[in-house]
Order: sequence, then structure tokens, then C-alpha cells
Amino acid sequence: MAADEQKRAAGEAAVDLIEPGMIVGLGTGSTAAAFVRSLAIRRIDIRGVATSEATADLARLLKIPLLELNEAKDIDITVDGADEIGPGLSLIKGGGGALLREKLVWEASRRCVVIADAAKRVTTLGAFPLPIEVVAFGHATTLARIEAVLQSFGLAVFPHLRLRDGAPMRTDNGNLIYDAACGAIEDPAGLAAALKAVTGVVEHGLFLNLADTALVGTDQGVVTLGV
Ligand code: 5RP
Repeated sequence: MAADEQKRAAGEAAVDLIEPGMIVGLGTGSTAAAFVRSLAIRRIDIRGVATSEATADLARLLKIPLLELNEAKDIDITVDGADEIGPGLSLIKGGGGALLREKLVWEASRRCVVIADAAKRVTTLGAFPLPIEVVAFGHATTLARIEAVLQSFGLAVFPHLRLRDGAPMRTDNGNLIYDAACGAIEDPAGLAAALKAVTGVVEHGLFLNLADTALVGTDQGVVTLGV
């Protein structure tokens, strides 16, 4: 099965978890978009909280009513994609640049379900470059401190400023992203805490102890993983 079909199958499977009246966090990326489309097709009466402007645009197009995160104190469930799914449903996210809003919505959710194609499963996180969102002001000095943190974890990595159309990409929050091709992250929790402690770092793409369930599209159908 092609990756796109696996993503679509995982997105459809996630719709089975949605009940009328729920407030649903809507993830970002192609797999999350497949979920949002399936949700609209089934016409379940929910209100969504979008994790990015792109997802909000898609939801509006599909006539899914939206709430701002501030209005939705209790999100019943969030369904979102991932760039890597590691042991214990540890994740790398942010390939689509929406990591900050995604993490805000995930942390406000009672249940978080990650949906993905089979290629996203890994035994060690880090082959996918770790996105690190930083404020634009003084970002080169922030980068130097990020590199020092990475080196202290044995990662001789020089993160790259993410570009779009040849210019630094701005997130929905007006920030910049550095992508750190770590290779293998042996201590994700330690690295997550150390990166968060750097002034100027707004968020990073390590999502640890947040996902409750993963629905992974495979050639044998959708496989459910728990923590
Ligand atoms: C966006 C994300 C996405 O969920 C992640 O990049 C996976 O994308 P896709 O479903 O297109 O493979 O974290 O910030």
C-alpha cells in the first residue's frame, strides 16, 4: 500500500473514535488533513480546534465549525500526524512547522491519537531532523546555545534554518525553525528539557508522554499501538 493510502486509512480509522458533541483537536500535515476530510464526509457534529492556519483553512472549507483554543477549555481528543513514532509513542513532530500550536492543543486534550503511515515507525528517534522553533530576535545567538546543548548530548549537529521559497520560513506564530539532523537521540527526555531551557527556544518537536494511541496504516491494515 502506498504511503498516501496508509495515511488515508489511518485518518479514516481515527474518525471511528469521534462522537457527536466532541471538541476535537485537528492536527496539521497530510495525514491530519486526511482525517479532517474523513470527518467532514461523515458529517459528525463536532467543533474543531485547529493546530495551524492551514488546518483552519481546510476545516472552514469543509464547513467544520472551529473554536479558538482559548474558547475550548476541554478538548476531548486530538488527532494529529507525526514525523517519527518511537518507543513508548515518543514522537518527533513539526515537519509541517506547526509544532508549537500542536503541542499547545495536545497538552489541552484529554486524549491524543497519532495517525501515520508505516514508514514513520522507528526504534530510535532522530533520523528525521528535529525541528526547533526560536524567536527571530537574536536567533543566531540562540543557535549557538542550541548547538552547545546538542554537543553536550554527544550530538555534533549544525542545525539548518528552515527556508521557504529561498527565505527564512516564518511559523504561524512569526517565529523561525532550525532543523537539527541528530541521527539518533539516545536521551529524548534529557534533550527535550535542555532545549526548553535555552532562552529564545520557543518549542521543539519532541512530543514525549503525550500520545495515548497510535493508528498506523500498514499493508496489513491499520494497526493500533498503545503506550
Ligand atoms: C506538522 C506535523 C505533521 O504532523 C508531521 O510533519 C507529519 O506530516 P505528514 O502527515 O504530512 O506526514 O508535525 O507540524
